[in-house]
Amino acid sequence: MIKTVKGAGSLKGALQLPPDKSISQRAAIFSLLYNGTSRIKNYSQAQDPQSALRCVQQLGAVVKEDSGDLIIAGKGRNDIVEPKQDLDCGNSGTTMRLLSGVLVGSGISAKLVGDASLCGRTMTRIIDPLEDMGAHILARNSAYAPLFINRVEPIKPMDFELPVPSAQLKSCILLAGLFGEAPTRVIETLPSRDHTERLLGLDQKQEDRKKIISASLSDVIPEQTYTIPGDFSAAAFWLVAGAIQEKSEIVIQNVGLNPTRNALLDILGDMGADITIENERMEGAEPVGDIIVKGSDLKATKITPGIIPNCIDELPILSVAMLFAEGTSIISGAGELRHKETDRIMAMSKMLKAVGANFEELEDGLIIHGTPDFSFKSAEFESFHDHRIAMASAVLSLKGKADSKIKDAECAAVSYPSFWEDLVKVSS
Ligand code: S3P
Repeated sequence: MIKTVKGAGSLKGALQLPPDKSISQRAAIFSLLYNGTSRIKNYSQAQDPQSALRCVQQLGAVVKEDSGDLIIAGKGRNDIVEPKQDLDCGNSGTTMRLLSGVLVGSGISAKLVGDASLCGRTMTRIIDPLEDMGAHILARNSAYAPLFINRVEPIKPMDFELPVPSAQLKSCILLAGLFGEAPTRVIETLPSRDHTERLLGLDQKQEDRKKIISASLSDVIPEQTYTIPGDFSAAAFWLVAGAIQEKSEIVIQNVGLNPTRNALLDILGDMGADITIENERMEGAEPVGDIIVKGSDLKATKITPGIIPNCIDELPILSVAMLFAEGTSIISGAGELRHKETDRIMAMSKMLKAVGANFEELEDGLIIHGTPDFSFKSAEFESFHDHRIAMASAVLSLKGKADSKIKDAECAAVSYPSFWEDLVKVSS
């Protein structure tokens, strides 16, 4: 599907976001692990969380609906069912990596498959440590899905220092660790999103600058009602759109404000964006609030490696803000972007090139020479079938003088099915 997006003036309106993708997927998987019934309020209809939900059903969870909530009868750690068919993770790296941990932990044999994008993403970062824990994993070219997972020996708990700051890898190892007699300890130097340890209430301690998270059979999977907040990574598109369009005012309601996810708020604040947070509260284990963004004059910023895990999914849309910020902005230490749904550094470069931006591509980031006066007539964007590239291109299109086009725009539904309706809502 090709989407045509008109250049727009000021943006106005109040938006409700799609439920958080990362938390939705975890709620489904943790409900499978709970030996009893869990309730999930506001589960995401987006494609990735729906893939996770289908997979947990294949592993034995029984899912019903009650007044819009999901009621999930889990299997506990002992009675997970061997799936009769392949577990299809679709486009979702989180589903594939977290479920791999569950399968290795439980000793259930299964084949994990995914779409072309997911089958092109390296899985060696989970394969190697899971094999150290006793798994046998057969992967295409030893690195890529489909993955055949098997374990015959008892699980071997271990201490594992994360070689890359990845919440998917951290969660995968912790989930496998939940099945071990002795604790598995994951050591994290750069903080990545902490939904797994937060929602499961795992033991965490800080030693020097490292966080150590432990998981074992003696951790009780808590009985819970999960309330999924709006997805901060979806809010990011409106935070930037509202900031770069003069005289805009967008209210984004019920946004997840987990401090390991929302570095973009500080980054945009430092760039001069007019952002206010209201009505801050806790919903279950996660902080939530409403955000108001107004059109602002932005200045350049430098994003350094330490903060990258906290804004990894927001970097495509941040590059759009940088284009309209006065001065030279730099993103460095973001090589992980090359391993996302597509090579996002390449895709961001192509997006910026399509509008004639002045920028340089680095191996691990971008240098963008921006100005609030930057203008272009119209552009044709490739989404590379990547939801975040499609949505970032749409926000950039709003700054065009005429209509721009975005190819394969349906991929926004991976995380944000109502994105195109919301775009019309704020721009008309
Ligand atoms: C996610 C973690 C991040 C993020 C992805 C979702 C998660 O990936 O990019 O969209 O739910 O744990 P990495 O942890 O691999 O960087």
